[in-house]
Amino acid sequence: MDLIEVEGGAPLSGHVRVSGAKNAALPIMACTLLTAGETRLRNVPRVSDVVTFSQVLRALGAEIHADVDDLVINTAHIDQYEAPPGLVKTMRASFLVLGPLLARIGQARVSLPGGDAIGARPVNLHLEGLRTLGARLQLEQGSVSAQADRLCGSTVTFPISTVTGTEHLMMAATLAIGTTLLENAACEPEVVALAEALNRMGARITGAGTSCIAIEGVSELTPAVHEIIPDRIEAGTFLVAGAMTGGDVTVDRCTPDHLLSFLHCLCAAGAQVDVGEDWVRVRGVERAKPIEVTTAPYPAFPTDMQAQMMALLAQADGRSLIVETVFENRLMHVAELCRMGAEISIDGGQATVVGVPRLHGAPVVATDLRAGASLILAGLAAKGITTVARVFHLDRGYERIETKFAALGGKIRRVA
Ligand code: EPU
Repeated sequence: MDLIEVEGGAPLSGHVRVSGAKNAALPIMACTLLTAGETRLRNVPRVSDVVTFSQVLRALGAEIHADVDDLVINTAHIDQYEAPPGLVKTMRASFLVLGPLLARIGQARVSLPGGDAIGARPVNLHLEGLRTLGARLQLEQGSVSAQADRLCGSTVTFPISTVTGTEHLMMAATLAIGTTLLENAACEPEVVALAEALNRMGARITGAGTSCIAIEGVSELTPAVHEIIPDRIEAGTFLVAGAMTGGDVTVDRCTPDHLLSFLHCLCAAGAQVDVGEDWVRVRGVERAKPIEVTTAPYPAFPTDMQAQMMALLAQADGRSLIVETVFENRLMHVAELCRMGAEISIDGGQATVVGVPRLHGAPVVATDLRAGASLILAGLAAKGITTVARVFHLDRGYERIETKFAALGGKIRRVA
């Protein structure tokens, strides 16, 4: 397995362009199942989760090929209704094929994805929502078997905000009879991007980006061309790198509006932030100020930036508090940061971070995607050499992360 080796100390500077958002690309790939024909996706990130999702779609009968920088998905012949359990287990997002398969061919079988390193992550709200739309669901040997002659519009009220739950129901409802209302829907930019993609295909969705989404069912959808939105989490990761190495980094081709609560925290921590129409520039200070950060659904501070922000605060001048409210077990990076000299204690979902003047390099292990990113950031700022193991977690969601950091002046390389 590959390692990433980082020699810390060099201030990062220059421009970096973000890739398309993984968490926008995956549901849009799933929604191609709702139509029979050729969909073209632009700005798809070259990350392993996209490769895995392509394998799931191929197993269902889709033909997929890369055309220069585009991904072309032909769903004319969807002749399988069972997603391969081995693939679904490796990537939770592949559960999103259930609703579209059900809406298009009336049946589907997908294994329950199970928990992962950041929490139990049940899919009960996806299943309850599909039942409300009239799906008949059965749990057999760890898989959900679903059937429906045609789904029927209804009102689904989510007790808590769920991003992929909202996306799943939105997709399933596009071909239902009548209108579906999703109440307490997630407002994340990726939900809006999916609604826009579905509307380009002929769906009638209004309210995406608010907590109430209305979907008026239509009888069919037609293929379209979609541009994947920039990855706000990748953008944030590079901005933290600029800030915590005392550097000067400009992230190009991003959507600053999607980053507001994160940018607010970055400023509060003392970084100098300038924002343009599609770029953000950050200049770091000698030592960050301590702050309090609480993760919550959009537009609040994203849980997917919590680990990276913690790496920055680990070297701040004082005591910071980080409260993780979205996932119950998303503080696995704390132990690894402590191996690098960080002083962090955990109480339930809260981490108290007492900044130290300088982290030091150490061999560490990425426990999930964002934990891995935080360790690379810590390594870029630390004294000495850090090796990050289990790099496959990073490859799931960051496109060539070490190449992009190296282009900003980071001393970083992948070791086979
Ligand atoms: N939840 C339930 N039941 C459900 C669904 C969710 O209890 O049926 C709970 C979860 O366990 C969690 C909370 O609701 O405690 C919110 O989870 P949500 O459903 O919003 O998360 P998700 O849709 O599974 C997506 C992203 C995650 C990101 C979260 C939160 C994708 C493919 N994944 O997950 O991305 O952290 O929203 O913003 O969009 C990542 O990219 O590193 C990542 C983990």
